[in-house]
Amino acid sequence: MRRRARKGGGRQIELAIEAIGARGDGYGTVDGKPVFVPFTVPGDRVLARITGEHTGGVHAEAVELIAEGPGRAPPPCPHFGLCGGCSLQHLDEAGYLEWKQALVGRALAQRGIVDAPVAPLQPVGQQTRRRMVLAGAKKGGRLRLGLHERASHTVVDLETCLLVTPGLLALLPPLRRALNVLLADGETADVTASETDNGLDVLILSPTTPTLAAREALADLAQTADLAQLSWGPAPRPGETVEPEPVAIRRPPTLRFGDVTVEPPPGGFLQPTAVGEKLLVEAVLAAVPVDARRVADLYAGCGTFTFPLAKKFRVHAVEGESAALAALWTAARRADLAGRVSIEERDLARDPLIMVELDEFDAVVFDPPRIGAREQVAMLAAATVSTVVAVSCNPATFARDARTLIDGGYTLVEVVPVDQFPWSGHLELVGRFRR
Ligand SMILES: C[S@@+](CC[C@H](N)C(=O)[O-])C[C@H]1O[C@@H](n2cnc3c(N)ncnc32)[C@H](O)[C@@H]1O
Repeated sequence: MRRRARKGGGRQIELAIEAIGARGDGYGTVDGKPVFVPFTVPGDRVLARITGEHTGGVHAEAVELIAEGPGRAPPPCPHFGLCGGCSLQHLDEAGYLEWKQALVGRALAQRGIVDAPVAPLQPVGQQTRRRMVLAGAKKGGRLRLGLHERASHTVVDLETCLLVTPGLLALLPPLRRALNVLLADGETADVTASETDNGLDVLILSPTTPTLAAREALADLAQTADLAQLSWGPAPRPGETVEPEPVAIRRPPTLRFGDVTVEPPPGGFLQPTAVGEKLLVEAVLAAVPVDARRVADLYAGCGTFTFPLAKKFRVHAVEGESAALAALWTAARRADLAGRVSIEERDLARDPLIMVELDEFDAVVFDPPRIGAREQVAMLAAATVSTVVAVSCNPATFARDARTLIDGGYTLVEVVPVDQFPWSGHLELVGRFRR
């Protein structure tokens, strides 16, 4: 396992690792506080150096593994330990699955929800990840392309990744060559690459407008990598959204949701794996009662759930990002679904649907970003909608929102966890609530 030693001193302690925490780090207890040590397993004894402290506990790094606990396995990826993408490849499969399966129950228990039925974890497998946000950085004439090191701005130059699709992996060498021309020394770029149904959609955000030579290199990238679409935009300031410009549209990227073909905006949100998306859609459809008539799909994106739902129900799709909603609406009209699907652009954090609006629906599906849907859920808890379906990529905010719904009179009937982010502390899930 590769690991970069951090500079600086710090108190060293000997520690027995008791369990693995929600983010994937092993921990032991000192003076009643958890001390988190990455890449450890229960049963390990380590010499650990304290690197930081916050309200939730103490952070440390292993200086020496004094004794190994059971359940260790050789990490299969050569970048493990340095690349910030994975934190649990050092666990054997049984230990990993057991830990991940328990994540939802633990998050719920922290909010006092102890009896929720959690279905068995649904795996997605390796080489399935079809969307990646990469960082490119040029320094001293050398271009690095990959993910950041854990808690660092340093980019790990990825040679391989066991999780992404072969198509995404094959993009790395030609993308590296193009970024080398695009970026001046000291510059960085963010690259979102998504594998759509008819090829890769790549969006590059970088600080300086491409020169003629850079545009030629980008056009060459689109051709050699057979990209469906390549776009470029200026790196946004915090909170700013950018309008990317097309560099090459060789085939408009398309995605199929239900029976409907959608053309997503450049770099638009996409469930990270196709198999995970299928499992989530199945769980959402199973959660909505067959006799429902009107369903709200909140945080609808480009329609991942809207269109499968629209096969059975009338669906009102609400989304905050105009480009995603425009793509959804264009697809709905082309599929002759304008009478069955309606749309609304709305910021659900500032302006959540209120009770009288919610009560028009027989079921409400919501799929917020990692921060969850605090404001919208507060309204739902006071409404009379009989079925609420929560899709979440963050068990902690899901548990917080579940607590609000339960306090409002809902029962959490089922949770379906889908392991869309293997070897990491992230987990996708679908929760079904009834009142
Ligand atoms: C996790 S994605 C889910 C998208 C879609 N349901 C899917 O599965 O593809 C969350 C979506 O919420 C949207 N979003 C984020 N914050 C929002 C807000 N405050 N109001 C409305 N939509 C928001 C994002 O633009 C994104 O499309």
